Amino acid sequence: MHPVSHAEDHQGTRRDFIYYATAGAGAVVTGAAVWPLVNQMNPSADVKALASIRVDVSTIAPGTQLTVLWQGKPVFIRARTEDEIASARAVDLGDLPDQNAENANLDAAADASDENRALSEDGVWLVQMGVCTHLGCVPLGEAGDFGGWFCPCHGSHYDTAGRIRKGPAPRNLPVPVAEFVDETTIKLG
Ligand code: FES
Repeated sequence: MHPVSHAEDHQGTRRDFIYYATAGAGAVVTGAAVWPLVNQMNPSADVKALASIRVDVSTIAPGTQLTVLWQGKPVFIRARTEDEIASARAVDLGDLPDQNAENANLDAAADASDENRALSEDGVWLVQMGVCTHLGCVPLGEAGDFGGWFCPCHGSHYDTAGRIRKGPAPRNLPVPVAEFVDETTIKLG
């Protein structure tokens, strides 16, 4: 593995983003930072070209998240806690600004129920693009008024299913094409 890009120490946030890419593995970021996309990430051409990657999720404990770089963008892979799932499932869909699942694996008309957002039937696994739907910053995990993600660029709050709840972002965090190919491996794309 070799590092392909390092985040800049942007707006005083921690310098803790290091992305690696090899054929077949994304990897690993802990924490989160305000990080306007694309220009600063400057992924190499071979990374951009990877149509799909496989990610080993065996080390992701409940209540933690892995961020992988896929097609030049961060993808959040989270193993949700029972509380996170319960809180996402208790939401009245009528309260959601974006009532579409925004899930590339489902029919375009699928609603934004938590079941339609999660990758696994038990609701544990949530896979979504780590790109704020307002202007593309990377939201912070376990933050905001709804316990999910918070984008500090302009104050967008996402819930534990990655659905926009408050702030200027117009849509839920998109769920990319993803599937489990074995018990501990998720394929993106
Ligand atoms: S880019 Fe996230 S709130 Fe504006």
